[in-house]
Amino acid sequence: MTAPSTAPGAVLKAKRSGALNGVVRAPGDKSISHRSMILGALASGTTTVEGLLEGDDVRRTAAAMAAFGARVERESEGRWRIEGFGGFTEPTDVVDCGNAGTGVRLIMGAAAGFPLCATFTGDSSLRGRPMGRVLEPLARMGATWMGRDKGRLPLTLKGGNLRGFSYRLPMASAQVKSAVLLAGLHAEGGVEVIEPERSRDHTELMLTAFGAKLEIADVAGANGHTGRSIRLPAGQKLTGTHVPVPGDPSSAAFPIVAGLVVPGSEVTVEGVLLNSLRTGLFDTLVEMGADLTIKNERIAGGERVGDIVVRHSPLKGVVVPPERAPSMIDEYPILAVAAAFAEGETVMRGIGEMRVKESDRIALMAAGLQACGVEVEEEPEGFTVRGAGKAPKGGATVTTHGDHRIAMSHLVLGLAAAEPVTVDEPGMIATSFPGFVDLMGRLGGDISGN
Ligand code: S3P
Repeated sequence: MTAPSTAPGAVLKAKRSGALNGVVRAPGDKSISHRSMILGALASGTTTVEGLLEGDDVRRTAAAMAAFGARVERESEGRWRIEGFGGFTEPTDVVDCGNAGTGVRLIMGAAAGFPLCATFTGDSSLRGRPMGRVLEPLARMGATWMGRDKGRLPLTLKGGNLRGFSYRLPMASAQVKSAVLLAGLHAEGGVEVIEPERSRDHTELMLTAFGAKLEIADVAGANGHTGRSIRLPAGQKLTGTHVPVPGDPSSAAFPIVAGLVVPGSEVTVEGVLLNSLRTGLFDTLVEMGADLTIKNERIAGGERVGDIVVRHSPLKGVVVPPERAPSMIDEYPILAVAAAFAEGETVMRGIGEMRVKESDRIALMAAGLQACGVEVEEEPEGFTVRGAGKAPKGGATVTTHGDHRIAMSHLVLGLAAAEPVTVDEPGMIATSFPGFVDLMGRLGGDISGN
C-alpha cells in the first residue's frame, strides 16, 4: 500500500475514469478504533483488537495510550494487543494527538479521572478546534486546566478527585458525551449524560463489552427529538476483551458515491458498520434514487455489519432532514458531491457543526464545488447544492486545508467530472483512509500524484 505523499507541494489528481468495478473492504471504523485503544488502556488485563484502522489518527491514540502507561503492541496488520493496568499514569512528555479530535477529546476525558497532569497538543487544524465543549463539563466535575483562548490546544489538564453530576449536552456530540462518560468512570457517585439528539453510541456499547453496567433510557430531547439519558453508576470495573472493528461507513462512503456517479459502475464494499446512528448517508442516497442494496447483514462484535452494493444511478436532489445530521455528520462533504451530479437541489441544513471539524467543511465544499462549476449556496448552518443532472465541469485545483474528507470528496468528483480535479495536501488522507488511492485504483479509478 502506498500512502499519498506528504511532501510539500504534493498533489493528487483524479481523472474521468471508465466504469468502476469490483469488491473492496473499507478500512476499520475510526470511532471504534480510537475507543478500542482507550478502553483497552483503561481496563485491567489484555485487550486484542482486530481490524484496527491503522491511520495516523489512531496511531496517535495508540502512542498516547503507551504514554499514559499501557503496553501497546502491533502484532500484525490490523491486529493489536493492549495490556491495561486499570488506570492511567502521568505521561512524561507532551501528548501530541495529531489531527484527531476524537482522540484528544476522549483521552482528555479518560485522563481527567486520574490524579495526573498532562499537556496535550495537535497539528495546526486540531490546535484551532474548540476544546471548551469538553473542558467545561470536566471542570464542573473538578478537573482543572490551563490553555489558550477558549481552551484551544496546547493545554494542560490536571485530573483526579472528580465528583459525578448529571450533564445535559448543549449539542449532539458523541465526542463530548464520551469524554464525560470516560471521566465518570472515576468520579464519585458516577455520572449521567443526557443527549438532546442521539449520537453514535460506540462508547456505550464498548463500555458494556468491557464489563461496565450502564443504565440507558429514552428521554424527551430537543425540538421534539427523542434523546437519551446514559447513566454510569460509580464503581465500574473494566476488564480487557476482544474488539473486532467493522469497516468504517464514513470511509466506505467514498467508493460508494464513486460507484453511483461513474457511468457503468458496480461496486461492492464489504463488512461495513451499519449501526443506525451512522447510516444517514445511505438512507439519503436511496432517497436520491441510488441503486444501493445491503447484503449479508450480520452481527459482528455486537454491531450490525453488511456488504453494500451500488450501481451507477441517475440521482435527484432531496431535502435532507436536519434531524438526520448526527447520523451522517462526516458524510455531508461526499453527499455534496453526489448532489453535484443529481438533478435539482439538495438542501442540507442544521449542520453548523460541520464548521468546527478538521476544517470549515461547509466553506471548503462550497468553494471546491463552485471551482468545479457547481452551483452552491452557502448558509450559516448549511448549504444547498444545485445539480444539473450531469457530470460537472471539474478542472480545478482544490484547497483542502489539510482535511482528509475534503480531499477524498473532490477526488471522487474528479473520477466522473469532465476535466480532472486536483487536491492539495493529499498526505492527510492517511489520517482516516491510508489505502484510499490503491483501493480506488483497484476499482478502476484513475488517481495519481505529481
Ligand atoms: C466522532 C464523533 C463526531 C464525528 C467524528 C467522530 C466520534 O464528532 O464528527 O469524526 O468518534 O465520537 P462530534 O462528536 O464532534 O459530533
